[in-house]
Formats: sequence, C-alpha cells, structure tokens
Amino acid sequence: TNTESAAPASSPAADKKIVLGFSQIGAESGWRDAETQSIKDTFGNDPQFELKFSDAQQKQENQIKAIRTFISQKVDAIALAPVVESGWETVLEEAKAANIPVFLLDRTVKVSDESLYTSFIGSDFILEGQNAAKTMIDQLGADKQVNIVELQGTVGASAANDRQKGFQEIVDANPNYKIIKSQSGDFTRAKGKEVMEAFLKSDGKNIQAVYAHNDDMALGAIQAIEEYGLKPGTDIFVVSVDGIKAAFEAIRDGKLNVTVECNPLLGPQLKQAILDYQAGQTLEKWIKSDEDVYFGQKAIDALPNRLY
Ligand code: AHR
Repeated sequence: TNTESAAPASSPAADKKIVLGFSQIGAESGWRDAETQSIKDTFGNDPQFELKFSDAQQKQENQIKAIRTFISQKVDAIALAPVVESGWETVLEEAKAANIPVFLLDRTVKVSDESLYTSFIGSDFILEGQNAAKTMIDQLGADKQVNIVELQGTVGASAANDRQKGFQEIVDANPNYKIIKSQSGDFTRAKGKEVMEAFLKSDGKNIQAVYAHNDDMALGAIQAIEEYGLKPGTDIFVVSVDGIKAAFEAIRDGKLNVTVECNPLLGPQLKQAILDYQAGQTLEKWIKSDEDVYFGQKAIDALPNRLY
C-alpha cells in the first residue's frame, strides 16, 4: 500500500507549509476589500502558511472552478466566501471526498448535510437586520408614519436574505413603518445610487427612510438624495450595515444616521480555526463575530480608530 497517499490531507508534515485556498467573491464593496486585506495580511505574514487567493468576480461558477482547482492542488484547507446561498452541494461533496476541510467565511450556504463544511466564521445577518430596524424606530419614534425603501444586497446572498428577514420582522411589528419599495443594488455604490434614483423618481417626497444592506449602497443612495435636492440624514433617514470608515465619515457629516457593524477582519479567526482543526480539536459550527451599532457621537468618537 502507498502510505503517503493514506495520510490525511489535513495533517501535513511539520516542515511543510499549510496551504490555504481562498475563494473570494470579488471586490464589490469597501467591506469586501477589508476582508481580502485581512486574509492576505494574516496568512501572507505567517511563514507557516501559503495562501492561494482566487477572485471570482461575483460569479458562483468561478468559485466552483476555484474550489475544484484547490482540490486538484491538494490544499490543506479551503476558505469560501460564497456569493449566493444555494448550489454548493456537489462541489462541497468533492472537497469532503478529498478530505479537505472547508471554512465558510462571512456568508453561509444552504446545504442538506451540514458536514459538508467544517465551520462558518461570520456575522449574524438576521441580528444585523433587526438592529438596523430597531435603531431606526428608536430614533425616528415608534409613532411616526414612516415609508421605507430598501436597497437589498446581491440576489440570493445569505447577507441579503437574512438582513431582509431580520429587518422585516421588526418593521412588521409596528404598523406605522412600511417597506414601500425593495430592490437589489448588488452591494455596490453605483447600483445603490441607480436604484435610489429610480425610487426617488417614482416615490419622491413619500420616502422617509432608506435601509441599505451595506454602507456602499447607502453612500450611493446619499448621493442620489442630494442630487434630487433633499438632505440625506435629515429629510430622509438612512441606515445601513457594515461600519466601513466612509460610513463613519458620512455619520460625522450628518448624511448617514446609523451603521450596523459587520466585522470583515476575519483573517485571525480563520487562522485559529485552521490551526485548531489541524490540532484535532472540535470546532464550533458557527464562529460568531462581535459587533456593535454606531450612530451620533458614538460614531464620531470611534472614527479615528476604525480599522477598515
Ligand atoms: O457578506 C457581507 C457583505 O458583503 C457586506 O455587508 C457587503 O458590503 C459585502 O459586499
């Protein structure tokens, strides 16, 4: 028998680098860039590791191809930030058959068999949506009549599905608050602006609030509101998710009301998870990030220390 090929892929010899293949979604937002940087910094600066990085340019098919390449290269671990939730079973089965652990980063997948991935490292997107709605209602007042337009993230992404769900849940419990329009802006600033322009054109002064699934779309919407001749942050309440530096600046400038933090700096947690896995430890199925909600003076005070 060939003893070499019988060795588990997850326990390389001591002198061998741990090879990590990371399939990233793309570069659609400031948040995504910060996540990519965190992975590159964490693994690029650690001589124990070798990082193979692949940018899927927003396409699931590219991610599936990248995973297959990582499998054929016999990497020791795969990290996947899945652009959408569904359609992963086959390729994850292939990784499992090759004995390569898969760590989901920041977004989740829908699979019937949870053993197809080792751990999910990331945020509670439902909670983020709930926090966005709660903070909006707190600040505007529960008695006020508020028509909300929603800029959703990428269609089919867990970050979009769950942020929608959490927000809707809270809004549904208050009859004064209504989501009157909802459309995807694909998590980008350009599309956020475009969709907001269309919302303003059709509903104009009937809009009291914007809920954007990420800061970049909110920043695009802010521009659209200004060009329409209204004051974002004053005439129209704007709340979004992520907590990128540009959002804190917009809060300081009075144009954005609230940002719900979503931590992209997942490199260190991923590294720890891979090392624990290699040491034979049982990992949490969901390794959660600690996050906060920022508005007003609290955001202004936090701005100088924002890392992304
Ligand atoms: O999956 C996390 C989301 O993806 C972030 O909120 C968004 O900015 C990014 O593109």
